[in-house]
Amino acid sequence: MLKATAISKIYETAAGPVPVLENVYLTLNQGEAISIMGPSGCGKSTLLHILGLLDPPTAGTYEFGGVQPWTLDEKEQARIRNGKIGFIFQDHCLLPQCTVLENVLAPLVVGEQDDDAEARARDLLRRAGLGERLDHFPSQLSGGEKQRVAIVRAIIRKPAMLLCDEPTGNLDQATAWQVLELLAELRRELQCILIIVTHSAEIAAEFPRQFLVRGGRLVRTE
Ligand SMILES: Nc1ncnc2c1ncn2[C@@H]1O[C@H](COP(=O)(O)OP(=O)(O)O)[C@@H](O)[C@H]1O
Ligand SMILES: [Mg+2]
Repeated sequence: MLKATAISKIYETAAGPVPVLENVYLTLNQGEAISIMGPSGCGKSTLLHILGLLDPPTAGTYEFGGVQPWTLDEKEQARIRNGKIGFIFQDHCLLPQCTVLENVLAPLVVGEQDDDAEARARDLLRRAGLGERLDHFPSQLSGGEKQRVAIVRAIIRKPAMLLCDEPTGNLDQATAWQVLELLAELRRELQCILIIVTHSAEIAAEFPRQFLVRGGRLVRTE
């Protein structure tokens, strides 16, 4: 379960404070999936960074997985971030010098990289339509293929939450739907929380609960 209460974020810059989020509230149960829309610069990525333990809020409380991660030390935060949260960004962020299979196994810490993990990675990649691409490098893949590798990498540790920041932003429409279908299928299996930021109203409408960031707040639209 996730609960954000009165979350605010003000960036301190040389030019002065930049207020971005103000009193954001969000409660999600395990397995819930939501979409978030909003114009460029409204604070969507900022919100995902707070929920994903990448950047702290200025004020407010955040509960995730039974703890308040922003009150813990950095080591504990990293443990939760690496173990329980999967990220998918607009840019796939794959390691260019690693193969598809190596990229997927990269988030596993030493000791987790056993034969089971590799078998699971191979199986997931096969299901993602990448069975023939295991030994290819990212530069040899299409945009949709790269994003499917990024999805498999994000879920290899069975996260409790998947945060997707415009995951189909760089893809054509047909490819975007394929990527989204894979995401939906794996999410159902994992029963994890999924939060997707998207500029596509059609994609946003696929989700049972839909939100918009407006004036620094998170507003429910559906
Ligand atoms: N590290 C930062 N320092 C200062 N301002 C930032 C920083 N990150 C983002 N911003 C500003 O915060 C606002 C929201 O950014 P962002 O969350 O990336 O918006 P979105 O993802 O909705 O396009 C923008 O005005 C952006 O310029
Ligand atoms: Mg953004």
